[in-house]
Amino acid sequence: MRIDIATLFPEMCETVLDTSIVGRARKAGKIQLFCHNIRDYSPDPKHHRVDDSPYGGGKGMVMQPEPIYRCYLDIIRQSQSLPHVIYMSPQGKTLTQQKALSLREYPHLLLLCGHYEGVDERILTRIVDEELSIGDYVLTGGELAALVVVDAVARLCDGVLPASECFENESHMNGLLEYPQYTRPEVWEGDAVPDVLLSGHHARIEQWRRAQSLERTARKRPDLLK
Ligand code: ADE
Repeated sequence: MRIDIATLFPEMCETVLDTSIVGRARKAGKIQLFCHNIRDYSPDPKHHRVDDSPYGGGKGMVMQPEPIYRCYLDIIRQSQSLPHVIYMSPQGKTLTQQKALSLREYPHLLLLCGHYEGVDERILTRIVDEELSIGDYVLTGGELAALVVVDAVARLCDGVLPASECFENESHMNGLLEYPQYTRPEVWEGDAVPDVLLSGHHARIEQWRRAQSLERTARKRPDLLK
């Protein structure tokens, strides 16, 4: 899978994409990740301007369509493929695990990050396939949201997670929260690991984990059971 991020702050994204599991998967070629500076595509050779004040008045600045469009066309030229384009915006549908699973099916995603008062509406109608939000709050730009999308999608791609960190039983994959986990020591500060986990009885352990999943989903996230 290939994911491109179009942003005014590529350094901010590169740092995260080069770190930890995603960074390792990127180096190993399990996933292709590219960051593009929209400013490099400004038609203004002197000041590399990418924004201007809004028509009709109002506060702040709006990102102009031309630099974003040129960046988009260059990504198509470089990749020789048409990406599914997502604009990161608090106006989009909220990201869920189901959404991350469906995004994994696209061979090529382009995440467009806005700043200031957003982007010129004409770029949304011309190139954007969908808008995506990471929650009902407003960030200063789309970068942190785009990085959340990359992380959630990349870890679902083949070969990204080590086999030992398989995601199939984890929270949200089956509509439930994950059961509690314990490791050594068996007793810590007088607090013992539940006996059933030391029993070696696989069917009873499965049953206990299922019951724990249901109990904690009901207690912590009753909305998920509805
Ligand atoms: N840009 C600003 N706020 C955002 C949010 N909540 N989700 C996605 N992109 C954003």
